[in-house]
Amino acid sequence: MKISFVTARPATSGTAVIPVFDGDKKYGSAKDYYSASKGAIAKAAKAAKFSGKAGQRFDVYAPAGSKASRLHIVGLGKKDKFNPEMLAANVVKGLLFSGDTTLTFHLDGLGLTPDQAARAAVGARLAAYQFNRHKTKLPKNKKPTIASVKIAYDSSSKGKKAYDNFHGPVCDGIIYARDLVNEPPNVIYPKAYAARVKKLADLGLKIEVLGEKRMATLGMHALLGVGLGSERESQLVVMRWDGGKKGAKPAALIGKGVTFDTGGISLKPGAGMWDMKGDMGGSAAVVGAMIGIAGRKAKANVIGIIGLVENMPDGRAQNPGDIVKSMSGQTIEVLNTDAEGRLVLADALHYARTKYKPAAMIDLATLTGAIIVSLGHEHAGVFSNDDGLAEQISAASESSGERSWRLPLLPEYDKLMDTPNADMKNLGGKAAGSITAAQFLQRFVGDTSWAHIDVAGTAMKNERHDPRETTFGTGYGVRLLNHWIAENFEG
Ligand code: BES
Ligand code: MN
Ligand code: ZN
Repeated sequence: MKISFVTARPATSGTAVIPVFDGDKKYGSAKDYYSASKGAIAKAAKAAKFSGKAGQRFDVYAPAGSKASRLHIVGLGKKDKFNPEMLAANVVKGLLFSGDTTLTFHLDGLGLTPDQAARAAVGARLAAYQFNRHKTKLPKNKKPTIASVKIAYDSSSKGKKAYDNFHGPVCDGIIYARDLVNEPPNVIYPKAYAARVKKLADLGLKIEVLGEKRMATLGMHALLGVGLGSERESQLVVMRWDGGKKGAKPAALIGKGVTFDTGGISLKPGAGMWDMKGDMGGSAAVVGAMIGIAGRKAKANVIGIIGLVENMPDGRAQNPGDIVKSMSGQTIEVLNTDAEGRLVLADALHYARTKYKPAAMIDLATLTGAIIVSLGHEHAGVFSNDDGLAEQISAASESSGERSWRLPLLPEYDKLMDTPNADMKNLGGKAAGSITAAQFLQRFVGDTSWAHIDVAGTAMKNERHDPRETTFGTGYGVRLLNHWIAENFEG
């Protein structure tokens, strides 16, 4: 989809989208269309009983005095509730298969900031996202027709700048992350995934891939244990963006990349198991975040680390009861092979911390079904050993629009991982499943400022109500992480 920022109107062709606030009889942003129509718009509005309330809309085809083939007039409701990104997403959702190829959003004269104008473009792109690459036949009415979205804005150059310098590259990252999550597990397995990420060197990212041999030398047997039952070699991929001051401590982003989670010998039930192709959603957010960071040439040093494994049952797979030694030296009794994400992250976190000495690190993981019980699909769960970092994440949630909610950590929860047989077990018990998983991770972060974001309910969804979320993979986290970096590391 081509995005452009324009000032010219109403000479534009295609569909002109005209937002109207509640009660604005003059159609503030589009009064020239209004007057050129010589009363036709006023008449149509009356017939449609349109007053500008949120959700109201009507069309005027081939309006007099303009090149537009159609005016799509949309009610916005009250001014204080106006969100240009959601407007664009809702309109694109409604017109995606309409046959229209060009949409012009008339967002001038509404007092929007350049940032808001740029976000409208993001709303349009996200709502237009489809994942059709494995369909050999696509009926015509399922093919998106909108090829070009124009944002008419008071200062098109300022809007374009906000888009090019931030929102556009971040949106590229979101879309890339969605693709990764949506791809089936026979396309995205650890080596294929790593190969895909290697191509991001084109953006100026430095990519390093560690195979099983290297990881064994490093002693990463918590991560490697998860991949034992798989025919596919496990991988650890490090992405590096050096955009900040030389020697400045980096931020580290760590992602769970279980390319398929059968549960291993502690096998999951068959129904719905297919969703576990999305068990690499945390890692996809990290990759997408790095794309945003590199694409907008962030003035920060950032390390992205993803642990890629496939969790399979097999004669060589690890057994419930196995005891593995993590890279940190701590031993883990694997009582349930389906609690594998924490095993992968234990080594990835320890590696990030000891090798890169980050100023702070955030891991993202589709770690527990329990977080869906707690927060559903609307908030990700945040856990942190640092109140300041938790505050930063909360602020980044607010500015990015990606919701998160903090949950507690406590020594009392930590105790639940004690076992007579090793330093810890990989299970906490029935209660507080998301918290005990986070407590497990905390045992591998030392005194590094750290947060864990459980994205099991937000990185993949089978239900849709947000017009920006069009597929199973949502790309959740890409924006949050970009805002977090921008707000705390690029000063
Ligand atoms: N990948 C799952 C968590 C998950 C479940 C994500 C549903 C998205 C939707 C994770 O590896 C897992 O299996 N967790 C177990 C932990 C349990 C064995 C302690 C769970 O949540 O049941
Ligand atoms: Mn699992
Ligand atoms: Zn998992």
